[in-house]
Amino acid sequence: MDYTDRAKEVLQTAQAVLITAGAGMGVDSGLPDFRGDEGFWRAYPHAKKLGLSFEDLANPRWFKLEPHLAWAFYGHRLNIYRDTKPHQGFYLLREFVKGKQDNYFVYTSNVDGQFQKAGFSESRVIEVHGSIHFLQCSMPCSDDIWSAEGIRIDVDMETFRAKEPLPRCRNCGRMARPNILMFGDCSWIPNRTEKQQANLYSWLRLNRGKRLVIIEIGAGVAIPTVKLFGEMTCREYGGNLIRINPRDYNIPESVSGIPLPMGALEALRKILI
Ligand SMILES: NC(=O)c1ccc[n+]([C@@H]2O[C@H](COP(=O)([O-])OP(=O)(O)OC[C@H]3O[C@@H](n4cnc5c(N)ncnc54)[C@H](O)[C@@H]3O)[C@@H](O)[C@H]2O)c1
Ligand SMILES: [Zn+2]
Repeated sequence: MDYTDRAKEVLQTAQAVLITAGAGMGVDSGLPDFRGDEGFWRAYPHAKKLGLSFEDLANPRWFKLEPHLAWAFYGHRLNIYRDTKPHQGFYLLREFVKGKQDNYFVYTSNVDGQFQKAGFSESRVIEVHGSIHFLQCSMPCSDDIWSAEGIRIDVDMETFRAKEPLPRCRNCGRMARPNILMFGDCSWIPNRTEKQQANLYSWLRLNRGKRLVIIEIGAGVAIPTVKLFGEMTCREYGGNLIRINPRDYNIPESVSGIPLPMGALEALRKILI
């Protein structure tokens, strides 16, 4: 039996569905991943000129030192994530979990909100690195988190600077920043993600003993949060891990896994249609 048939069989008999996703899930919607410096600089050529890697730029200090640069990066991402339509793979997954009485949970390191946009319930998603659609104070002066809805950021991509007015903290007037976990970040407010985590763990507890399938899509190896979480959950709760990734598809022997070495959309069409 080939891997696609094996994946279909596992999906058919599953009683609980955990979807885990990294940046590769968005690639077929036209979004960039940040795979390696080259991948990042392809998406942000100006960062290459400044000699800044993803790790350098995704750092909270820029909101204090150079807020126009910080907001060029995050403002541009906010705009493209807002404008992007989730690809068909999201909707195939959505239909699939409907057929499982909506007994699912989504675990993602993506900050783009694409799962919610495709109709996945806010109460069944954990955004481990936070979300670009929420803001907080850069200080922070309190643990307030608020929606970025209605806030537009105009970015000059030539100079890679965001134009005034930049988003401000609604409590103290200092610079606001996205509620995203950055590198070397001591000021990220985790409350929203912690609530999502509590939902995730009650869902997992409720489903102990059920036939679990974990569908992992486009999770990278540089920051392996998503991959490790899926593997750990598979070992602890049993079940099978379907790993969809054109490059990083190897699965350790300690995990009962099915590798699908292809892109998200192609794989999801193959196993869900
Ligand atoms: N959309 C987003 O929200 C977004 C985008 C880029 C980075 N990030 C952030 O960057 C960090 C690193 O993220 P990461 O490890 O998920 O990304 P990464 O860029 O390191 O890795 C992306 C992975 O996707 C795979 N991939 C590429 N094209 C694919 C396709 N068509 N289908 C399926 N898989 C494909 C690659 O082989 C790689 O393993 C995270 O902290 C995340 O929050 C978020
Ligand atoms: Zn403040």
